Amino acid sequence: MLGTERLSHLLCLSIWFCCALRCIDGLENGVAQTPPMGWMPFERFQCTVDCIHFPRDCISESLFKRTADLLVSEGYAAVGFQYLIIDDCWMERIRDTSTQKLLADRKRFPSGMSALSRYIHGRGLKFGIYHDVGQQTCMFRGPGARGHFELDAQTFADWGADYVKLDGCYATESERNRGYPAFGKAMNRTGRTMVYSCSWPFYTEKPDYRLIAKHCNLWRFAEDITDSYTSVFRIMELYRRNQELLLAHAGPGRWNDPDMLVLGNFRLSYDASRLQLAIWSVIAAPLIMTNDLETVRPEIKELLQNREVIAVNQDLLGMPGKCVRASKYFQVWVRPVTPVNDLGQHSFAVAFVNRGGFDACPLCPRNFEVVLERLGLDSPTGYYVVDLFNSSRNMGMFKPNDAFNTRINPEGVTFYKFTVAPLY
Ligand code: GLA
Repeated sequence: MLGTERLSHLLCLSIWFCCALRCIDGLENGVAQTPPMGWMPFERFQCTVDCIHFPRDCISESLFKRTADLLVSEGYAAVGFQYLIIDDCWMERIRDTSTQKLLADRKRFPSGMSALSRYIHGRGLKFGIYHDVGQQTCMFRGPGARGHFELDAQTFADWGADYVKLDGCYATESERNRGYPAFGKAMNRTGRTMVYSCSWPFYTEKPDYRLIAKHCNLWRFAEDITDSYTSVFRIMELYRRNQELLLAHAGPGRWNDPDMLVLGNFRLSYDASRLQLAIWSVIAAPLIMTNDLETVRPEIKELLQNREVIAVNQDLLGMPGKCVRASKYFQVWVRPVTPVNDLGQHSFAVAFVNRGGFDACPLCPRNFEVVLERLGLDSPTGYYVVDLFNSSRNMGMFKPNDAFNTRINPEGVTFYKFTVAPLY
């Protein structure tokens, strides 16, 4: 009997896995089976093109080479940050007049894109590049792909790109709706496998996520992030309000993109940094940093390289989580993760958020208590609990009807892994 039961659970699990991988349409290019991790300059460095006065901050090959070196030497690559992605402002303002090919800015990228790509690959990293589906890039610094999809996709492939971020400025709605699928197909026709990051839904009033997930590996669903708790929280709220829709289409090879990790810059407190990392991991967001790797404070670097948290983000079940409880002051976010026990029950990553704002003390730590069953943690075998921001803090075993207590800093988070206990 036991054998039969186990067999049927195994069967259910394998059907579930097949469904996760196959039942929903997806861009079948085989990449981004877990959310991409890497670095992109935009929030931190914007469109700084004055290399005379700001040589360290301008968008140039030296910024990308320096960052490639630091990704490796500072240990970021070893924990998974492998895509080094050039954002806007890398182009000459016009195409090559004879070939119509895109050109990298000659002064800021004197060695050319192929050479930079080789440099990045030589460090064991992957190379990403920015483009726009319409007439111009968003910063109006160069031509968009309009009329040149095949040529531009081939140019990126020839340069050895592994990732393309396609923005949606200076295009009409119908142009975007036709352009995003068409550019993706042009990328596939090059024969080079490239992650396809689309900004499509961000520009669309009522995005058709089924269609978007069919053509893109990831898609920006929110506004541009800025370096503040307010911005991080606004994007969390946008996700929460639309989570059933957003969740339904995400999984291996197709992810919701809430924009870059702003950790390591100026305005996020230590607690808000933990918050962004925890929630981005719960919702299976790409972890693309935007910072100056040379000046990231040691405690923030430690957060960014927290292997337990990254493991939640990269969990192989590929099931994004969501907010399961929200009040004026608290939120609880839950993601099903591996391991799965013999009964087919998941483990969970759970993030408890203190939004602050209490009348008596708006920015004080607060205690929060909840019976686990109310969060959907209902395995009768119980859960072993570990604090993900302090893995030495093993909190013991909890059953579904046990109360769980946590004390959360203001505009911050506590983040735990609840590993489901095996049957025996
Ligand atoms: C848009 C995008 C940003 C960035 C800029 C570059 O605003 O949403 O992520 O790529 O364009 O111009």
